[in-house]
Amino acid sequence: MDDLRIGFGEDAHRLAPGRPLTLGGVVVPGAERGAIAHSDGDALLHAVADALLSAWALGDIGQHFPDTDAAHAGLDSRAIVARARTLIAERAPDARLAQVSAVVTLDRPKLGPHRSTVAATLAGLLDLPVDRVGLTFKTSEGLAPDHVQARATVLWRAPVG
Ligand code: C5P
Ligand code: MG
Repeated sequence: MDDLRIGFGEDAHRLAPGRPLTLGGVVVPGAERGAIAHSDGDALLHAVADALLSAWALGDIGQHFPDTDAAHAGLDSRAIVARARTLIAERAPDARLAQVSAVVTLDRPKLGPHRSTVAATLAGLLDLPVDRVGLTFKTSEGLAPDHVQARATVLWRAPVG
């Protein structure tokens, strides 16, 4: 019997013209606005990284990558996910990530046409088969037209020991 652990993470960024919109490590083609952020503003990867850490009670990405640190300006969020994986590997070397399920809330543009690209990229980053990466896209129904928001859950398995 494995020890099962779930983690939950969330992130949001304000959108502004003239910058790329990066989600799950993918620059969304044709997006007119991108996230205002200290890093590359990849809300999906930030939510996933927080979920990964949360499952192991290892704090959050703001703790490990303070946005007051100039060294983190423009940071590629794939490095944040990689760092989270390293911290977890140190804490729980036998743990295996089993699944990720995420929701991105964004009014425009439609993300559906990019679902398979984002899922494949996220699967590659997390060393997961693509059928263990679930992505749901939602609008805010106009409630938050100037924001991108992501929420993610992850499931880990580790041998009881
Ligand atoms: O938010 P709402 O339920 O109206 O979204 C309808 C559908 O539009 C979603 O189920 C999703 O398939 C798609 N969608 C999308 N890209 C977005 C928001 C929603 O592809 N940015
Ligand atoms: Mg963020």
